[in-house]
Formats: sequence, C-alpha cells, structure tokens
Amino acid sequence: MLRLAVLVSGGGTNLQAIMDAIKAEKITNAEIITVISNNEGAYALERAKNYGCEALLLAPKDFPTREDFNQALLAALLDRQIDLVVLAGYLVVVPPCVIEQYPNKIINIHPSLIPSFCGTGCYGLHVHEKALARGVKVSGATVHFVDEGTDTGPIIMQKAVAVEQGDTPEVLQRRIMEQAEWFLLPRTIDLIANGKVHVDGRNVLIDE
Ligand code: GRF
Repeated sequence: MLRLAVLVSGGGTNLQAIMDAIKAEKITNAEIITVISNNEGAYALERAKNYGCEALLLAPKDFPTREDFNQALLAALLDRQIDLVVLAGYLVVVPPCVIEQYPNKIINIHPSLIPSFCGTGCYGLHVHEKALARGVKVSGATVHFVDEGTDTGPIIMQKAVAVEQGDTPEVLQRRIMEQAEWFLLPRTIDLIANGKVHVDGRNVLIDE
C-alpha cells in the first residue's frame, strides 16, 4: 500500500475527490495516512476528521524559525513512512530538504495547462485571471512532479477545459475543478500506486 500524505491549505475539494476515489476503489493500493495543513481554519482538516484519518496542523508561524518548520514537516513525513506527498491546494513553498528526500515522490495539481499561467505568484484565482486576461479559449489542469522550481517538474497528466465567453475567474476555476482536477489527481495517484508511472528525464511515461 502506498502511504499518502495530502498537504492542503484551503477548502479541500481535491482532497475530497481523493478520499471519494479511495472509497469507490477507483484508487487502489493507496491509503491516506495524514492530512497536513498550515491553516488551522482550513475546511480540509474537517474533511480529514470526517474521513477518519489524522488531521495535522503544521504552521510556519508556530515555529521559531522557518528552518524549524521545514525540519518539522520533514520529520512528520518520515515518522509516518510516507511514500507519496500530494499537494492539493497547498500554499506553502515545499522546503528543499523535503524535495531532496522525496525525488519524484511529490505531486502537485495546478489549475492551468503548464507552462501557461504558472510559476511564482500564479496560484488560486490569479491563474484564472491571467488566463482570461490573455484571452485563451482553452485552459485546464496539470498534475506534475515537484522539483526545486515552481511548477517546473515533469508533467504527469493534463486535461483541457474550454473557456466560455463571459467567464469570471470564479466560474472558470469551478469548471476546471469539475471537469479536470477532481478526475486528474485521483487518477494520477492510482497510476502511481499501481506502478504505472515512470519518469525518464523530463518525460513521464504511463502504462495504461
Ligand atoms: C485548486 O484549484 C488547485 O488546482 C490549486 O488550489 C486549489 C485547491 O482547491 N492548487 P481545493 O482546496 O482542493 O478545493
């Protein structure tokens, strides 16, 4: 069984999609060991409690230095023998010590088709504001491995979603979640848990 840690900062609809997929056996060979949040008000923590797994609050502000937080996060993952770290709307920069410990074992969902509308400062509604300002007709979501850059790791899966005339950032955000994110992230976890994802440099090969 692949031991998952899901890291969250907000509402946790992607976390919910993972939990639902495990219950429905659309994800096999994986279990959520812990849900970790930097935000004590995150509804995602309630979802974790309702699901029946650990809900762990680890906030940088509760540690004397950033390095202390980084080491506490790493220790939390190591103590629980986590195999795969899933960033599902996690707004904290993952520290280098964690990235070094988990090469190609951290995945992130980003609400655009990388390399468009990504990188530093491009998160949450900003992504969709930028897509609408540029006038693209298609956006979507990307699941990728996390490396030391921002949204630069190898791409695992992408799904395109149409932009409609009159979209607001909120409407586009919701459509991308419904039509892409809630499918892509559970699907990726299932593929990894069943040994079907292979990294070859910047290319990710999937046995389907
Ligand atoms: C999603 O749009 C995800 O792509 C981005 O943050 C948002 C998280 O939403 N990284 P939720 O907390 O899963 O509802």
